[in-house]
Amino acid sequence: MMKSVPLYTQMQLWLDKVNTVMRENLLGVRVIKAFNLEDKQNALFGKVNTEFTEKSIRAQNLTFTLMPIATLVMNLSIVAILWFGGNMVVSGNIETGKIMAFVNYLVQITNSLIMLVNMIINVSRAQASSGRIKEVLDCETSIKECNSPVLPENYDIEFKNVSFRYGESGEYVLKNLSFLFKEGQTIGIIGATGSGKSSVVSLIPRLYEVTCGQVLIGGCDVKDIPVQHLRSSIGIVLQENVLFQGTVKENMNFGDEEAEEEEIWDSLQAAQAEDFIQALPDKLQSQVEQRGKNLSGGQKQRLSIARTLLKKPKILIFDDSTSAVDLSTEARLQFEIAKKMNENTIIVIAQRISGVMDADTILMLDHGSVIAKGTHKELLQSNEVYRNIAVSQLGKEVLLNVTE
Ligand SMILES: Nc1ncnc2c1ncn2[C@@H]1O[C@H](COP(=O)(O)OP(=O)(O)OP(=O)(O)O)[C@@H](O)[C@H]1O
Ligand SMILES: [Mg+2]
Repeated sequence: MMKSVPLYTQMQLWLDKVNTVMRENLLGVRVIKAFNLEDKQNALFGKVNTEFTEKSIRAQNLTFTLMPIATLVMNLSIVAILWFGGNMVVSGNIETGKIMAFVNYLVQITNSLIMLVNMIINVSRAQASSGRIKEVLDCETSIKECNSPVLPENYDIEFKNVSFRYGESGEYVLKNLSFLFKEGQTIGIIGATGSGKSSVVSLIPRLYEVTCGQVLIGGCDVKDIPVQHLRSSIGIVLQENVLFQGTVKENMNFGDEEAEEEEIWDSLQAAQAEDFIQALPDKLQSQVEQRGKNLSGGQKQRLSIARTLLKKPKILIFDDSTSAVDLSTEARLQFEIAKKMNENTIIVIAQRISGVMDADTILMLDHGSVIAKGTHKELLQSNEVYRNIAVSQLGKEVLLNVTE
């Protein structure tokens, strides 16, 4: 076992690699075709699979030779007993019955020995696997419940000197952010790709823990609010929206387990998803495939928005969630959400200025810092970068009502 357990551990590691390559090949099958990578991916699979085969043969060679050895020992000992016992019977020293009894006992003992060998084979494999299961089970979550939880009285969101980086090392992605969003406000966040917009909002429902500083909701540190309560009061439409295999209704029910069909249609209508769901043959009972493969990008986004609206959270966060929706649908969607959720705090991240220009406050992020803050009008007046982006996206007309 001392020799075989490490070999089985190696074998499991390579089985992992075979699985990873398989999974990537299946999930990325279109990319592989588009880049003509079939041969390369086949070769890669061949390589890891050969390595896995070699490791398995080595591990099993060791344990499976034990079995024939044990059987050989058993049979050789029977031969030896019959040989010596035969001679003793001939010379009259012992009776035949006693020899036969002796052989029977020996077979029983060596059978147990063979069972032991079988156990050794199974236990070595199980030990290697259980070690890996234990690794996962023993992994501690970085988000811990507070011992003396408090519930916020309102839903103002405040960042106090927040800095953040992913992992222990690496660069700070957010640097010393401080701002306050009042409950009921609509906040827009814009900034170049990689400026830290998604990172800012992922700190609010505690998807990640701040590195320094505090995120407060209604004056309570998010670390002191029970995670369940915190997350049920925040609805977030992530940049990468994920739908699950099942019917449209089942997907919507992730937002609210007990929602009636009427409420579901209501949310779908607000998210501008009603029309295309109505056009499906089975309406709410239509199947959504794994990861929403049978829906277009914009349809997926609108369904994800509807799912979050159904949750009726206090704080709504949209992370670039209308990027695949055309401009007129985006405008209608914003209007409906503003109407339906006018008492909620809404945070909208967008690449297009049209997505945030109606917000009460707009934050401009650059390399993890706030470089400007204000309403659309204020920023047009005071910030040249914002003005240039606005003119390039919306045309010179945006400057008409703005006086320098
Ligand atoms: N899970 C992660 N692990 C490590 N680094 C990350 C992770 N997610 C993002 N980053 C890094 O953090 C920085 C900010 O990323 P973030 O996703 O917040 O940008 P963003 O403003 O939302 O960009 P985009 O407009 O493209 O969505 C980037 O430089 C990125 O490389
Ligand atoms: Mg982002």
